Amino acid sequence: MAMPRIYITRPLPGPAMKLLEGKVEYRMWEREDQPVPRETLLSELADVDGVICLLTEKMDAEAIERARRCRVIAQVAVGYDNIDVGAATKRGILVTNTPEVLTETTADMAWALLMAAARRVVEGDKFTRSGRWKTWEIMGLTGQDVHGATLGIIGLGRIGSAVARRSRGFNMTLLYHDPRRNEGLERELGATYLPFDDVLRRSDFVVLTTSLTPQTRHLIGERELGLMKPTAVIVNISRGPIIDQQALYRALVDKTIWAAGLDVLESEPPSANEPLLRLDNIVLPPHLGSASIATRIKMAVLAAENCLAGVTGKRPPSLVNPEALDRR
Ligand code: GLV
Repeated sequence: MAMPRIYITRPLPGPAMKLLEGKVEYRMWEREDQPVPRETLLSELADVDGVICLLTEKMDAEAIERARRCRVIAQVAVGYDNIDVGAATKRGILVTNTPEVLTETTADMAWALLMAAARRVVEGDKFTRSGRWKTWEIMGLTGQDVHGATLGIIGLGRIGSAVARRSRGFNMTLLYHDPRRNEGLERELGATYLPFDDVLRRSDFVVLTTSLTPQTRHLIGERELGLMKPTAVIVNISRGPIIDQQALYRALVDKTIWAAGLDVLESEPPSANEPLLRLDNIVLPPHLGSASIATRIKMAVLAAENCLAGVTGKRPPSLVNPEALDRR
């Protein structure tokens, strides 16, 4: 019997490739540092049984329409807002993601951003390298205390909960808002559920871990930033469009809030004239939330497992759209 054929949109770490060897025939976009061009993707999709893709690929209705034989789209990420899941489901295509394996690593990154923004670590590093460090100044580069402060989490899912658990070591007051209350975590951590606006008003640190949907696009805009304390730090570890970036720029310039740590931006990568790049009170890693070596390997392996299951008619371990099974 012929082996299933798949397309891989970027070279994957060795253990994931090894898992695929001998089980599928694959074609792959070989460049690690560049996404597959749209036209190449569309033509490669034409005769494959499955695809392993990254969040840089727009798997929209057009791409899904081209993927006539495709049975599974295996995303190497937990978020999948780049995939038109509705269009895939209609065609009986399974969509999978990589939850769980990246939860703790991404929560670590939320904390790295929170601490770096609060204590001006990146600004201080630039200060040292530029030769401006002349003496120890009593109020030079002073920031905000993290210990004992109030942490507000918007979206208390897996990653939000992992961020919340880490706050115990800093003796923080924990607030959260989520469409669903998590009474287990309220008991475990003494977290307090509050309406969205109250979390923004009362928190010293606001961490966004909610997924991107039409309802959460620009969840944080001028009004919401206006509710926050002038000493507050906002951290976004989910998807860029959750924050209205123009409104954030104004808030950071006008010092309506103190600082921001954004792992994600509305447009990735940002254009060279993106105004946020000019500010000192913001930390901007290039979407590195899950980027530890071990976790990225686990994500790629899980995506390969998902893909193998999908192309061989089995239920993938992390299936996003189980409804699609009924349409096959
Ligand atoms: C990364 O942003 C992911 O969704 O895994």
